[in-house]
Amino acid sequence: MSVFNASRLQGKTVLVTGASAGIGAATAVLFARAGSNVILAARRIEQLKQVEQSCVAAHKESGVQAGGKFAAVQLDVGDRQQINTLFDRVPANLKTVDILVNNAGFVLGMERVGDIADADYESMFQVNVFGLIAVTQLLLKDFKARNAGHIINLGSIAGREPYAGGGIYCATKHALRSFTGTLLRELVNTNIRVTEVQPGMVETEFSIIRFRGDKSLADKVYEGLQPLVAEDIAEEIVWTASRPPHINIAELYVLPVNQASATINYRGGK
Ligand SMILES: NC(=O)c1ccc[n+]([C@@H]2O[C@H](COP(=O)([O-])OP(=O)(O)OC[C@H]3O[C@@H](n4cnc5c(N)ncnc54)[C@H](OP(=O)(O)O)[C@@H]3O)[C@@H](O)[C@H]2O)c1
Repeated sequence: MSVFNASRLQGKTVLVTGASAGIGAATAVLFARAGSNVILAARRIEQLKQVEQSCVAAHKESGVQAGGKFAAVQLDVGDRQQINTLFDRVPANLKTVDILVNNAGFVLGMERVGDIADADYESMFQVNVFGLIAVTQLLLKDFKARNAGHIINLGSIAGREPYAGGGIYCATKHALRSFTGTLLRELVNTNIRVTEVQPGMVETEFSIIRFRGDKSLADKVYEGLQPLVAEDIAEEIVWTASRPPHINIAELYVLPVNQASATINYRGGK
């Protein structure tokens, strides 16, 4: 028995972008366990298929009858054409989406302004901002037509507070925060819910990508403290989505206990 009611998620269809790893993968699996159907989207199709198998196993293990339909769909959120044709690749029984989790995103490098490669800042904005906007627009027409739906955007502590070495990533997450705030306001006269989740440090592939595959640099980010893990944020997302329809969790700011801001943390142990 669970202390909170997730039965409202049974039979719902969830689209998770960036579902091949980290927070997106954990979120897809938890929705599967709750009895939802899940469209898993990302670029790496083999990893997506593995996560899809984990969804099948989680759903089976849950014993919940509802849900259990899953589809792994290749999608580069940085490619507008792929976004616009996404539903051509989604099976017919999953085309009506109830919950959109805009999770795909990344950071590259720690370069200071003046030294940031054009390709790096362009690709971060392309995925974290323009891609998120395009995916949202793709689904919002249908949400409005049905006067239903929930958009959950993965913001960040970096969207609340800039830090040196995070110039572009922070700018993308500030843009996401502003865009999400606009959605909240524009949709106030509808039943559509809008949530921004703002995690602090979560140990995923995120820092490995930031440091271009250098695992030892990535490990240093989390040295001496206990970071969040992907499953922690997945729980928050699924909890948010499972609230009664009259409740909108507009923002969720989630930190490890020893992190107080983007730059203030305690690594001394207990
Ligand atoms: N980890 C943290 O500390 C942290 C903190 C705050 C916020 N966040 C945010 O949380 C979200 C998930 O991050 P994570 O920590 O789970 O990182 P992760 O482990 O690196 O996972 C990122 C996911 O995004 C996908 N992705 C990246 N570029 C994509 C693209 N062009 N098209 C489609 N999918 C793409 C990746 O899949 P493919 O490579 O297969 O495409 C992967 O599934 C991001 O928006 C991130 O900014 C993370």
